[in-house]
Amino acid sequence: MFRRTRFAFACLLLTLACAVAWAADGPGKAAVSSAHELATDAGVEILEKGGNAFDAAVAVSAALAVVEPESSGAGGGGFWLLHRASDDFSVMVDGRETAPAAATEDMYLDEEGGVDRDRAINGALAGGIPGAPAAWVHIAETYGTLPLSDLLAPAIRLAEEGFPVDAKYQALLNWRAHVMKRWPETAAIFMPGGEVPAIGDTIRQPDLADTLRALAEKGRDGFYAGEVARKLVDGVQATGGLWTLEDFADYEVVEREPVRTSYRGYELVTAAPPSSGGIAIGQMLEIVEPFDLTGMSRADRVHVLAEAMRRAYRDRALYLGDPDFVDIPTGMLLSENYAAGLRTTLRLDRATPSSMLAADPDRLGKESSDTTHFSLIDSQGNMVSATLTVNLPFGAAYVPPGTGVLVNNEMDDFSAKPGEPNAYGLIGFSANAIEPHKRMLSSMSPTIVIGDDRTAVLGTPGGSRIITMVLLGILDFIDGNGPESWVSLPRFHHQYLPDEISIEPDALSDAEIEALEEKGHTVTVRNRTWGNMHGVMWNRETGELEAAHDPRWNSGGAVVVDIDAK
Ligand code: GLY
Repeated sequence: MFRRTRFAFACLLLTLACAVAWAADGPGKAAVSSAHELATDAGVEILEKGGNAFDAAVAVSAALAVVEPESSGAGGGGFWLLHRASDDFSVMVDGRETAPAAATEDMYLDEEGGVDRDRAINGALAGGIPGAPAAWVHIAETYGTLPLSDLLAPAIRLAEEGFPVDAKYQALLNWRAHVMKRWPETAAIFMPGGEVPAIGDTIRQPDLADTLRALAEKGRDGFYAGEVARKLVDGVQATGGLWTLEDFADYEVVEREPVRTSYRGYELVTAAPPSSGGIAIGQMLEIVEPFDLTGMSRADRVHVLAEAMRRAYRDRALYLGDPDFVDIPTGMLLSENYAAGLRTTLRLDRATPSSMLAADPDRLGKESSDTTHFSLIDSQGNMVSATLTVNLPFGAAYVPPGTGVLVNNEMDDFSAKPGEPNAYGLIGFSANAIEPHKRMLSSMSPTIVIGDDRTAVLGTPGGSRIITMVLLGILDFIDGNGPESWVSLPRFHHQYLPDEISIEPDALSDAEIEALEEKGHTVTVRNRTWGNMHGVMWNRETGELEAAHDPRWNSGGAVVVDIDAK
C-alpha cells in the first residue's frame, strides 16, 4: 500500500514537472493577427517594449477601438480569453455591456406591442453600459506587466494623428451613414464634411484621444467617474437614453471559467455564457464526434454539420442567457448522453425540419453583429483570443458630445419580444429577456484549441454566424490545416430558424446544393461573404508560429515577429 502511494506520488511529481516544463517552454517568437494592421502594430510595439500577451491585448483592443470604430470601441464590450503559460491558467474576462438600471423588458415595444426596430438599434436608447474600458484596466492590472498609460499610448497617438479610411470602413459606413447624419456632431467625426470619406482620407478623433488619456491617467475612474462619465451620461440622456452615473459606478468586469471540452484529443478552451458560443461549439462537436466527417462526401458532411448546428441553435434559444440571472444546464448540454439523444433524431438521408424539434415559444430572443476579433501569442506561450463589439457597424451611430465614444447598440442582443427574430433572424426566449444590470446573450466565441502537437487561437465577428464559423475553423485545424486555411474557408451556416442552410457565394457546387435539397434542406446562397477571422497557430513540434487574417477584407494585419524587447 505504502509502495503504491509512493509510486503514485512520484508519478504525480513527474507529471507536474513535465507540465511546468512544457508550459514554460514558449515558442520564442510572437504572433499577432487583428482586423487592422495599425492595431497589430500596436500589439507588436508593446511586446517589443517588454510587455506580455496580456499587455499587448490591451494595446490591440484600444487601437482597434480607434482605427476600426465600425466594429468595436470604448463604448462597447467584449470577451477576452486569456491563457497564461507559466501555470496553464485560462480565464475569460467578461467585459460585456449590461442593461442600464432603468431598462425594462418591454422598452422597445411600440403601442401595438411590436418591436420598434429603430429605437432598438439607432441612438442612445440602444446602448448598454460599456464594458471594454473596465476590461482593459482589469487585464492590465491583473495580468499585465506594463503601466496602462504605456498600453494606451499607441491608441491615443492613432486617435490624435488619425488613420486612413479603408474599404471596410467605407462599406460599413455606407450602410450606417443615414443614421449617423441624425447627430451632426457624430457625423462630423466619421464623415468629415458630411460625406462618406474616400479611401485613404484621414479620420482624426481628438475627443476620443482625450477620453483615452483620462483612462490612461486615472484608470477605471477616468472613464466610469468624473468628467468623461458625466459627458457620456449627459449626452445619452439628452437624446433619449437611460444611462446614469450610478450605472457607470456599478459596472463590473466578471472573470469567468471558460467552457472546456475535448474533441479528437484536442482540448478546447472557449467562451462561457453570457456567450452562447462555447456551449454551442461543444455541443456540436459532441454530436458529430462519431461521424467520419473527412471520409464523407462534401454534401453529407455539410448535412451532418448543419443538423448539429440546427440542434445547438435550438438549445441556444431555449436555455442561454446571462448566467448571473438564469440557470444554464451547462453539464447537460455538453454531456455525451445528451448529444447521443440528439443524434438519434439525426438521419443521414433526411433533413430534420426545425419545426419538429420542440422549442418553448414562451422563451424566444435574439442578437446580432458587427464585431472584431484578434488572436495573439507571445514568446512565452501566453495566448489571448478576444472578440469585441459595438454590435451593428458603428454601434448606435451616436457619440455623446465631447467624448469621441460611439455608443453601442448591444441592447438589441437581448430578446426585445419573445419569438421575434432580430435583424439576423435569431430567435430567443425569456432566458435572454431584458432586465436591469443583466448582460445580453452573445455569439462571440473566442477560442483556444490546445493539442500536444499544435495549438490554435481563433475567432471572428459575424453575428449569429460567429459560432458556426469558429466550429468550421476548429474542424479545419484538427484536420491538420493552418490559419491561412481556417480564415479563408468557404462558409455555411444553420441556426435552427430560419430553417435553411445559408452559404457564402461559391461555397458549394450546384451538385452539392442539389444533393442537400434532395435530403429536404433549403439552401440559400447569400450574395456576400461574412466574418473576418483572425487566427494564430503554434506548432509545438517544429516550434513555428503562423498568423493569418481573413483575405475577404484586406485591412487585417497578421505577423510573426522575433521580439527584440527594449
Ligand atoms: N453583438 C454580437 C454578439 O455579441 O454576438
